[in-house]
Amino acid sequence: MNFHTRKWVKPEDLNPNGTLFGGSLLRWIDEEAAIYAVIQLENPKVVTKYISEINFVSSARQGDIIELGITATHFGRTSITLRCEVRNKITRKSILTINDIVFVNMGDEGTPVPHGKTEITYVRDRFDDGSEA
Ligand SMILES: CC(C)(COP(=O)(O)OP(=O)(O)OC[C@H]1O[C@@H](n2cnc3c(N)ncnc32)[C@H](O)[C@@H]1OP(=O)(O)O)[C@@H](O)C(=O)NCCC(=O)NCCS
Repeated sequence: MNFHTRKWVKPEDLNPNGTLFGGSLLRWIDEEAAIYAVIQLENPKVVTKYISEINFVSSARQGDIIELGITATHFGRTSITLRCEVRNKITRKSILTINDIVFVNMGDEGTPVPHGKTEITYVRDRFDDGSEA
């Protein structure tokens, strides 16, 4: 699993208990997962279809640096299933896990269309010159 995005927990991200508000974290995860799905399916029109149980394993506090990890676990016909883990960047302590986040590949008509993908690919491998993108 790659942990691409880091976040710094700030006062506006806290709940009344003084720890990271779940809604803020879920917003970051949905965006991170959507970006992952867009890149994997090479289609900007993906929508979140399903999110399985969310396990808030431990709290993050103001000033913590956390990192969001996403990986694809299944390529369906029109869908892709992702797994997510959030952890403390410094201590590696797990903060949240979600086993299944399903995105659906949408076509111009606003209905699901096959994406034709079967495995994880990397953007850099799509360029002949080996440049990063
Ligand atoms: C996404 C949407 C078009 C799918 O409609 P649908 O009638 O379920 O479409 P389908 O039955 O063709 O299913 C599409 C894919 O989703 C999968 N799927 C459907 N329901 C699912 C569920 N409850 N859990 C997991 N996957 C599901 C199907 O297996 C299929 O994947 P596959 O082709 O890889 O096998 C429709 O549910 C929708 O518009 N939802 C709202 C999406 C949205 O607005 N998201 C933003 C969140 S606010």
